[in-house]
Amino acid sequence: MKLREYKAFREDMAAITFTDEDISNITFDFDDNFAEGGLADIYKGFWGGREIAVKEYAQIHKQTWKVEKDFLLRLRHPNIIHLIGWNEQLNVSFLVLEYVESTLELKIPELDWPSTLKVIKQAAGAIGYINGNGIVIGDFKPNNILIDQGKNIKLIDFGSARFGDGYMAKKNDSYAAPEIIKANSNNASMCAGVQPYMVGNPSAFASSNSAIISRIPGGSLIFSNTLPGSL
Ligand SMILES: Nc1ncnc2c1ncn2[C@@H]1O[C@H](COP(=O)(O)OP(=O)(O)OP(=O)(O)O)[C@@H](O)[C@H]1O
Ligand SMILES: [Mg+2]
Repeated sequence: MKLREYKAFREDMAAITFTDEDISNITFDFDDNFAEGGLADIYKGFWGGREIAVKEYAQIHKQTWKVEKDFLLRLRHPNIIHLIGWNEQLNVSFLVLEYVESTLELKIPELDWPSTLKVIKQAAGAIGYINGNGIVIGDFKPNNILIDQGKNIKLIDFGSARFGDGYMAKKNDSYAAPEIIKANSNNASMCAGVQPYMVGNPSAFASSNSAIISRIPGGSLIFSNTLPGSL
């Protein structure tokens, strides 16, 4: 779906600059500083009767805050985290986001096949929408995907997003596609892209790109025709 089709939706739900009054109305759950990201701290809070996540960037990471804010303002999709608002102060800047309880990384072991397919379809839809608008996420991985009780997903973490084509190397080599790893074989890496997750094949995990390359199958991949009984 193209951005212009979201125009009306976007205008209805435009993200806002949080005023001092809005900020004073947030009830923070400071005991629950529930995640420390690489560049930001994430707090849970309540605002306007709903749960929110506040992603706080220190001044030194202001540029990343701006990148994430600007891309989230452009991107409106049911499977992309909704930016409720933002605020810029002298020492910190933050984003106010809808709150979703878990990352996909934590839930992968519990997913049955129908839920796995649902996740894949929703992720593919969101990526298609993002790429269709000339944007590359740059850091697509299971802990940058949130999942709710109904197994609906929301992509998060757009601080590495860029305008560009789909072949741009990813920031995070640990989850890069095999062909990207082959092109950047000097960087350290942990696993070969989506294969270990989707096929559940631990042999694809390795601690260096040179070890991974030898495990990337040559030619075309052949998948079994038989799916688990639950499908
Ligand atoms: N809207 C949200 N609702 C619930 N949890 C969230 C939300 N946004 C982020 N989190 C949690 O905080 C973690 C870090 O968030 P995010 O990936 O956006 O930050 P980051 O600093 O860019 O992290 P990293 O560099 O480690 O990937 C997520 O993996 C997730 O556990
Ligand atoms: Mg992240």
